[in-house]
Amino acid sequence: MKVEFLAFPKAFAGNVAVFVAADKQLLATAQILDRESGGTLTRALGAGRFTGGKGQSLTVLGHAGANIARLLLLGVGKARDLDARAAEGLGGVIAAEANAAGHKSVTVVVDPVKGSKLTPAQIAAHLALGAQLRNYRFDKYKTKDKPEQKLSLSELTLIVSGPADARRAYDKLAPAVDAVFLTRDLVSEPANVLYPVEFARRAKELTKLGVKVQILGEAEMKKLGMHVLLGVGQGSERESQLLVMTWMNGPKSQKPVALIGKGVCFDTGGISLKPAGGMEDMKWDMGGAGAVVGAMQLIAGRKARANVVAICALVENMPDGNAQRPGDVVRSMSGQTVEVINTDAEGRLILCDAMWYAQEKFKPQAMVELSTLTGAIIVALGHERAGMFSNNTQLSNRLRAAGAGLGEKLWRMPLGPKYDKLIDSDIADMKNVSNGRDGGSITAAQFLQRFVQDGVAWAHLDIAGVAWSNKGNETTPKGATAFGVRLLDRLVADHYER
Ligand code: BES
Ligand code: MN
Ligand code: ZN
Repeated sequence: MKVEFLAFPKAFAGNVAVFVAADKQLLATAQILDRESGGTLTRALGAGRFTGGKGQSLTVLGHAGANIARLLLLGVGKARDLDARAAEGLGGVIAAEANAAGHKSVTVVVDPVKGSKLTPAQIAAHLALGAQLRNYRFDKYKTKDKPEQKLSLSELTLIVSGPADARRAYDKLAPAVDAVFLTRDLVSEPANVLYPVEFARRAKELTKLGVKVQILGEAEMKKLGMHVLLGVGQGSERESQLLVMTWMNGPKSQKPVALIGKGVCFDTGGISLKPAGGMEDMKWDMGGAGAVVGAMQLIAGRKARANVVAICALVENMPDGNAQRPGDVVRSMSGQTVEVINTDAEGRLILCDAMWYAQEKFKPQAMVELSTLTGAIIVALGHERAGMFSNNTQLSNRLRAAGAGLGEKLWRMPLGPKYDKLIDSDIADMKNVSNGRDGGSITAAQFLQRFVQDGVAWAHLDIAGVAWSNKGNETTPKGATAFGVRLLDRLVADHYER
């Protein structure tokens, strides 16, 4: 989509959106149009539920004598609540309305909103970003789409005083769009198309940005002793991969931040087979890995002065004559042994070796891991927040703050020795599940924590409830959300860049 920022013109034309604040308060341009039209807007506002509340919208016809085709009244809500994220949400409303109406282009008049923390230029920039993020559809496999099903919006013009400032602000934000779309594409792809080797091949494209991309196959992982990871992929025809990406553009003396992603390209459960209903969802069990790749694109794309490494464990979890059995005992790269009670608790199995590899090889100062790890986190937090587990309050506060400004909300969950005890095994160092389902997300995190080395600040984000959305949100159409992409980039920008 083409985005343009322009100063106020003499008159408006085409499809135009104007701001109305809470309690039906027409902002500057809406007031002028209302006066010009003999009070049509005031009358329209009197006739329905639209009050100018945040995210509300009302479309009216352009009045006689003006060149406006359709006029969208956009509710911006209370001025003091209009922050960057809220402005993105307004952009999302505009994109959704424009596509529903079949508009190709929309002009948004960004009047100053008195009482907001943002300047008009900032409002315009974030609004444009939000519209872009919402303007996404994964339709590459649709051969019979009717025109009204396709995205129509391809041109967004923002009218704002100080368009050059708005453009500058927008240019800083805009790289997130391609990164988010890359992740959404990866997560949306079906598993017959996107299997570990293909995932790694697509990530390899980041080489163009200066990211070093190394891909380890099963033979190399075997040499490294990553038998717990390899056990998960053992029943699959597709070769498991360890994707290692490095972006070392910070001071030489600075230890890197490690980003780790769960990349289960399809999770059948293995021999502990999942029920059929909804199993197709498990194509997005690589949402953590997808987010990590998107974040790397964003970090490298803006030439961040930071040292960042990213490791994705890529496997397919299948039942097969050669598949791993419940009760099997496997040895991890760390030397610790694991009794595999349930082959469907596979995420923690691949992550433990990926995390150990990251720490041995790169000695990171901090390690943030993202995974669609447990159904239990959806029971606990629903689809509003991801669960966060961490051994470090500073890191978890940083992550929470980074996400809060982006609509990627985190909720810290507990860890502790009593939970840890629940995964002790009778015949190995640990088992991969506890006896019951109680505290399922916590015991999963305890398992991971056993592979965190001393002195490493670690956080595990369980994104099972937020990586995919069946209804979408302000800036995300339904489907893959790319949760974590902007969050990780923001974390690096705010704390690990010089
Ligand atoms: N990939 C699933 C978790 C999941 C569930 C992600 C729903 C997204 C939506 C994970 O591998 C899994 O199967 N977890 C099991 C763990 C159990 C066997 C201890 C679960 O949550 O049921
Ligand atoms: Mn599973
Ligand atoms: Zn899984």
